Amino acid sequence: MSWFLLLLSSTVLACRAAVCPCERPELCLHIRQERDFEVFVFDVGGKAWKSYNWSMVTTVATFGKYDPELMCYAHSKGARVVLKGDIPLSYIVDQDNRTAWITEKVNLAKSQFMDGINLDIEQSVEEGSPEYYALTDLVKETTEAFHRELPGSQVSFDVAWSPKCIDKRCYDYVAIAESCDLLFVMSYDEQSQIMGDCIAMANAPLSQTLNAYDQYLNLRIDRKKLVMGMPWYGYDYPCVNLTQEGTCYIAKVPFRGAPCSDAAGKQKTYKWIMKQVNVSLSGRLWDNEQRAPYFNYKDEQGQIHQVWYDDPESICPKADYVTSKGLRGIGMWNGNILDYSDEPVARQQTAMMWNALLGC
Ligand SMILES: *[C@@H]1O[C@H](CO)[C@@H](O)[C@H](O)[C@H]1NC(C)=O
Ligand SMILES: *[C@@H]1O[C@H](CO)[C@@H](O)[C@H](O)[C@H]1NC(C)=O
Ligand SMILES: *[C@@H]1O[C@H](CO)[C@@H](O)[C@H](O)[C@H]1NC(C)=O
Ligand SMILES: *[C@@H]1O[C@H](CO)[C@@H](O)[C@H](O)[C@H]1NC(C)=O
Repeated sequence: MSWFLLLLSSTVLACRAAVCPCERPELCLHIRQERDFEVFVFDVGGKAWKSYNWSMVTTVATFGKYDPELMCYAHSKGARVVLKGDIPLSYIVDQDNRTAWITEKVNLAKSQFMDGINLDIEQSVEEGSPEYYALTDLVKETTEAFHRELPGSQVSFDVAWSPKCIDKRCYDYVAIAESCDLLFVMSYDEQSQIMGDCIAMANAPLSQTLNAYDQYLNLRIDRKKLVMGMPWYGYDYPCVNLTQEGTCYIAKVPFRGAPCSDAAGKQKTYKWIMKQVNVSLSGRLWDNEQRAPYFNYKDEQGQIHQVWYDDPESICPKADYVTSKGLRGIGMWNGNILDYSDEPVARQQTAMMWNALLGC
């Protein structure tokens, strides 16, 4: 191809990318205003977003395929839409590679009319390693570039439920929190490293979850940078045996240095859980220590399972903590996994899950 044609085709591409796909061109404008309380939703694709409670949503992190219709709609509701950012850390130790990656993301945000980026780097990192410093620099440089190129844009970073090297994620949490707009604290998968008995337990036990916020706050991380992430999913564990007291022993599946893990179970959506609890052996049970619901069921092969999950009753004290501590807001993984059908029971359960985000 000649120089001229190459130039022409890239110009055409650039122009086409910049055309606003919304019905009204003003819907492509970036969202700049800050709202007092964040409701941060991860969306994994499809059209479930049409049924979200948009009077609450402030940010949608799009982990599915780019959906211009979602962008236009969110903007019409004053909500931000942000990109997903994920890159193997070994690649961005190199400054040129890091800068190139950031530039690519800023350009993508511009061409898709997005309002920021959510950095979802869940890799293990050793303290003091080249990756450790590169990660801190990545967050800082990404935030600077987005704020410079897209004024009012939001850069968020996903952290584990506790800052104590969970899953060997030994990051510089303090520096990362300082340089980005907010941390989405993934207050779930809290059984990823089981050190005691290999038994099924709650995805996000109440006191363990809240104590971990005190750990973040003790690092002098600004409370207004913390968004509490709720699980809208649970874990289904096949029981190696189920004791008379109802303890479900699980297979030993090691993870990042721990002998057992929630990897022995399968993640299940709240939608699935609400159907399965009705055909369970036990019906909904409540664990008073972990403050979480669970149930037992038998599958078609006769295998007993125990399912641990969150519902409005377990979510509401967490949401109350968010307001009483004055945190930045709340969110969930992920918005898609409720039952958004027209069925009356499903509608009510779904509305209650959304409303639980605002507290009891
Ligand atoms: C730069 O990034 C690419 C992937 O985008 C990777 O293959 C390459 O190894 C990286 N280079 C360095 C020096 O890290
Ligand atoms: C259940 O399995 C666990 C782990 O294999 C074992 O320690 C325990 O004794 C078993 N309990 C019963 C009642 O079989
Ligand atoms: C589950 O059972 C309850 C109580 O019997 C009933 O009200 C509800 O409709 C059922 N839910 C589903 C999803 O079938
Ligand atoms: C959506 O959330 C608002 C609170 O912001 C609540 O008043 C309203 O009832 C919710 N809508 C539905 C359908 O539940």
